[in-house]
Amino acid sequence: MSFANAKATVYNDKVVRQFAIMTVVWGVVGMLVGIIIAAELAWPDLNLGIPYITFGRLRPLHTNAIIFAFGGCALFATSYYVVQRTCQVRLISDKLAAFTFWGWQLVILLAAITFPLGITTGKEYAELEWPIDLLIAVIWVVYAIVFFGTIGIRKVRHIYVANWFYGSFIISIALLHIFNSGELPVGPFTSYSVYAGVQDAMVQWWYGHNAVGFFLTAAFLGMMYYFVPKQAGRPVYSYRLSIVHFWALIFTYMWAGPHHLHYTALPDWAQSIGMLFSLILLAPSWGGMINGIMTLSGAWHKLRDDPILRFLIVSLSFYGMSTFEGPMMSIKTVNALSHYTDWTVGHVHSGAMGWVGLVTMGSMYHLIPRLFGRERMYSIKAIEVHFWVATVGIVFYIASMWISGVMQGLMWRAVNADGTLTYTFVESVKAMHPFYVGRLLGGVIYLVGMLIMVWNVYKTVMAGRPVPVKIPAVAVAHA
Ligand code: HEM
Ligand code: HEM
Repeated sequence: MSFANAKATVYNDKVVRQFAIMTVVWGVVGMLVGIIIAAELAWPDLNLGIPYITFGRLRPLHTNAIIFAFGGCALFATSYYVVQRTCQVRLISDKLAAFTFWGWQLVILLAAITFPLGITTGKEYAELEWPIDLLIAVIWVVYAIVFFGTIGIRKVRHIYVANWFYGSFIISIALLHIFNSGELPVGPFTSYSVYAGVQDAMVQWWYGHNAVGFFLTAAFLGMMYYFVPKQAGRPVYSYRLSIVHFWALIFTYMWAGPHHLHYTALPDWAQSIGMLFSLILLAPSWGGMINGIMTLSGAWHKLRDDPILRFLIVSLSFYGMSTFEGPMMSIKTVNALSHYTDWTVGHVHSGAMGWVGLVTMGSMYHLIPRLFGRERMYSIKAIEVHFWVATVGIVFYIASMWISGVMQGLMWRAVNADGTLTYTFVESVKAMHPFYVGRLLGGVIYLVGMLIMVWNVYKTVMAGRPVPVKIPAVAVAHA
């Protein structure tokens, strides 16, 4: 058998290993930057007057590092792992897959250089300047070729539902990125959006909201649909519900963006459509959450002694919580209180740290030992400790932001009998301070959990070695 033929009988786990390790690395970096900016919000003097480390420059570094580097690497790793296992073929091209890995790391590196230098488009979650945008577009097209190409050569007729979620994420992110990055370059690192005024805002929040919907939600649901059943050792609770969940979710998400622009120059009817679709979104979101959690039905006892399963199931509880809170915040009268306040930041992090963070950590704990020829992680006790530390960290973070946010909203709208404002803005800033310290504490605790993970991953990798995994000769439902 030639070398190429021999390779075709095993999965390409090299690229999965690379992305999985970088998930952990970028997780630590992204959270560390989060902690620095949280500290700067509590004590602004901490920037020492150095422009490169001011809040305004490091904030996009945090959001990009944590969403696109930590979250992105986790999605590349798991989508490549899942598509091979469920299609029972090797990735269609090793070279293209390697290109996505190195290309994506280059994008992250460029982000880490340009943001502290103050190079930005100023569009949230799309801050990277046009040359980097072009690079992202190329990498994303190659990613689509690898993913859909692999599905195209599959040996299993059925396309497992996790691949539908990953596939919709790849297509929609391409669309969002290309349309929202429409910009006129006027220099190597300067450009102007091709859209103007309220259209620009609408395109940006169509992008921003669907970055949440497809990057931070649909793709991670793909992860959930593979790793929850695998870790629980049970089939998905309802396959039929997973299909309804998929179509309802991807259809509805696309229309909800205007809830980010309540009480702005956006026409009122467009704001109302955004609110309506956000309320409808509760149904598919909860359908998906219930489907994931109920996969454990008949095996609830496993939660008692399997900390990985606990990561996965608690992540779904946070998903349920943030997708209940989101529709509520989209109601205009509620948004009148929550908008521009820390309540939004609390909502973001219950979804981001609770759902995205925990489901990623659980999936990595499932995946990493298997990628290094080991049955399980080096220390189960350490996973257990990480789980509790992370959960306590999240609670500290989001509780601080909720209190601070509601308080801010109430202070800003309080008026005296004569119609003057009861509080000055500075009074509200002073009142937030203790909660900013609380948030910082929550973040530090969450990062400690991540460092425990780093140690456990290091020990597991050192004790194991990459073992090629054979593709089953006869296709079975999914391996
Ligand atoms: C150690 C953990 C973390 C800390 C200390 C932290 C801290 C922060 C801080 C201080 C901000 C700025 C808030 C503001 O502008 O008022 C922020 C924003 C943000 N963070 Fe984190 N963060 C952490 C984890 C995460 C994770 C795991 C994710 C995503 C997976 C995430 C996603 C975001 C997003 C999307 C924003 C922008 C929020 C908005 O515009 O409303 N963060 N974070
Ligand atoms: C049914 C699902 C959801 C709905 C309807 C929803 C709704 C909302 C609303 C109304 C806002 C506040 C907009 C504003 O006043 O500026 C918001 C902000 C946000 N949500 Fe959600 N949310 C949902 C789920 C999630 C999840 C699961 C995540 C994270 C994984 C998330 C991440 C965010 C982010 C990052 C922002 C802040 C955007 C910014 O201003 O930078 N959302 N969401």
